[in-house]
Amino acid sequence: MAHLEHDPNLLPDFLSLPDLAHVAPCTAGLNDAGHMTLAGVDLVELAHSQGTALYVMDEAHLRRQLNAYLSALRECWPNSAVAYASKAFICKAMCKLVQEEGGWLELNSGGELALALAAGFDVANTILHGNNKSERELGEAIDAGVGRIVADCFEELERIQRLAAERGKVQKIMLRIKPGVVADTHSHIITGGEDSKFGFGIADGWALHAVEQAIAASNIDLVGLHFHIGSQIFALDAYEKTLEVIFRLIEELRESTGFIPSELNLGGGVGSAYRVTQQPPTIESFIQLVTAAAGEQCRRIGLDAANLKLFFEPGRSIVANAGITLYTVGAIKELQNIRTFVAVDGGMSDNIRTALYDARYECLIADRASEPRDSIVTVAGKHCESGDVVMIDACIQTPQIGDTLVIMTTGAYNHSMSSNYNRQTRPAVVWVADGQAREVVRRENYADLMATDLG
Ligand code: LLP
Repeated sequence: MAHLEHDPNLLPDFLSLPDLAHVAPCTAGLNDAGHMTLAGVDLVELAHSQGTALYVMDEAHLRRQLNAYLSALRECWPNSAVAYASKAFICKAMCKLVQEEGGWLELNSGGELALALAAGFDVANTILHGNNKSERELGEAIDAGVGRIVADCFEELERIQRLAAERGKVQKIMLRIKPGVVADTHSHIITGGEDSKFGFGIADGWALHAVEQAIAASNIDLVGLHFHIGSQIFALDAYEKTLEVIFRLIEELRESTGFIPSELNLGGGVGSAYRVTQQPPTIESFIQLVTAAAGEQCRRIGLDAANLKLFFEPGRSIVANAGITLYTVGAIKELQNIRTFVAVDGGMSDNIRTALYDARYECLIADRASEPRDSIVTVAGKHCESGDVVMIDACIQTPQIGDTLVIMTTGAYNHSMSSNYNRQTRPAVVWVADGQAREVVRRENYADLMATDLG
């Protein structure tokens, strides 16, 4: 197998599955055949029986992560709720899991609301986001009884007031505030800076104006403020800075309008480890640090912290490491002195993150998961463009045709951002628990691809 000649620093790292525990789902293991297992399920057998590409998720890991938030908050800030961010990964089974564990759901569209309703989720415990919610989406949300709508612009404030009035209802809302803090993450997923399409700015007086408009609206009940500064954040000082800014705003609003928020929604959760070398803060330390900072700000401005309900909306940190993708190796091209391409039966249609954010993952061959990863290859997809790469310069065990290739940490923003590019059918999603595999989303078929095509 060729190694990259043009980069002498890039050497195989020889890690095998046991060394990758840090990024693997919590029930990952090895069986006597040397195959990777999840919750006791042999992933090579699963790939053969279910077909690939296949998303596999560890149910115990999902529950553990959600409970890490819930129990840390019970300790640090009991007046709180955890609204799982459905954009990271959603299906009916996930809605049910969140409800069983006592979480709320964060929604971003009429489609996500329809799914929550179909899953029997108590929509009083949902928060609807979006920077341009349509009349239809807002009307559906008010009709369904969505717990909070986060208004993002003046137009939405006007729409919510009008639609709630038409229905004789009063809708609880929060206002999305743009704190002007730029977090340290990929530019595509920074959302808190001044140059963001989201929310009401502070310096330009928009936040103050929005509060005035909301409290004057008789069918709107303004309960709080929201900010979300971005995703995949490891450096938590951005939260401390943002809370300073937000509490200065709260002070100003209290003085000029008399408005005192009873709720503060701090947006997404902590970042996740995609590579063994990455060390994000733990969920516990994230919650401790952020709640300590919020508590300090409450004391500073003389606000009773017990009367302020905190919301967190973690997505990635609940699902990312719980999920993996299985592919079958279909072709290997060794380009002398350049690179070795390993082509798999999926690609940018099931994982757009490499093309979009230069994402990097850990990979291995499930058939020989205990062996050292001694080859460097580029895992290419099957789509019709060169940018269709799942992992550039991946360290894996020497691959063979027919092997089951595992990409780790694909639980977040993979299935939810998947597409039918090249009329590719989307993979199934299988959850594993206690030695059993359960299909929670079936694989698409050709009829699904043509279901909306009117000819
Ligand atoms: N709340 C709001 C309002 C959000 O916009 C987001 C993510 C979250 C919560 C959840 O944040 P998390 O806990 O997952 O960091 N597709 C990108 C990530 C986009 C994040 C969008 N907003 C990726 O694959 O990296």
